[in-house]
Amino acid sequence: MSNVPIITIDGPSGTGKGTICSYLADWLQWHLLDSGTLYRVLALAAEKKGIDSDDEIAIVALAENLNVEFKVAGIGSLVNIELDRKAVTDEVRTEICASAASVIASIAKVREVLLLKQRTFHKAPGLIADGRDMGTVVFPNAALKVYLTASPEERAKRRYEQLKKKGFNANLRDLSAAIVARDERDSTRSVSPLKPADGAIVIDTSSLGIDAVLENISELVRTTFPELTKQVANHLCRVSSLKLT
Ligand code: C5P
Repeated sequence: MSNVPIITIDGPSGTGKGTICSYLADWLQWHLLDSGTLYRVLALAAEKKGIDSDDEIAIVALAENLNVEFKVAGIGSLVNIELDRKAVTDEVRTEICASAASVIASIAKVREVLLLKQRTFHKAPGLIADGRDMGTVVFPNAALKVYLTASPEERAKRRYEQLKKKGFNANLRDLSAAIVARDERDSTRSVSPLKPADGAIVIDTSSLGIDAVLENISELVRTTFPELTKQVANHLCRVSSLKLT
């Protein structure tokens, strides 16, 4: 497996990770791991079963038996997510679910269980891994590690627009406060805190469009994997003024 390439893309919410990762996975025809969704689905499963977020034993047991499936549905919509064979794609996208995910994500044993699940996504021909600790903990040997960042204001605005576009109710001020609290929790937890991995290339996307970020990352892909140069270049020339969410 060590020769199956991995690109990790980490960073806080609203930096464009999801969009970038879905494009890269599509361009390279590699597998995609959206690790945040695993934490979100676990939080949703706990809520559905009436399990409290501080009942660590019950949450770990739930994580061990989590029946989650990702069904590829194309770029943009990414994937349809199923929990116990029922669609939960919209339910897991709310900020309430994200905040609940962030609370259970600080339980060390939960991370241990999900670590193994995440590593099963590492399959030929390659993997794009999207998350908070992909480069630091889950795939420390990845050939290319990227860390995306952006100002809190810009991130909140992007999330707001993304939620509105999907038909969710959202209030920019509340959303902004929830995102700041979530990032603070993710960055200060003792296990796998959110931070750039050693050797990660940090890109600030605050004032960049998706085309510029894709161009930046494509250059990194070309330098790291020269054999993919043509494939990346073919796709890159078709990207124009897309919105980063
Ligand atoms: O990326 P997303 O916003 O879906 O992640 C939801 C939450 O899941 C994050 O705020 C974080 O607490 C947790 N998470 C994590 N480690 C990851 C991915 C997500 O702790 N690799």
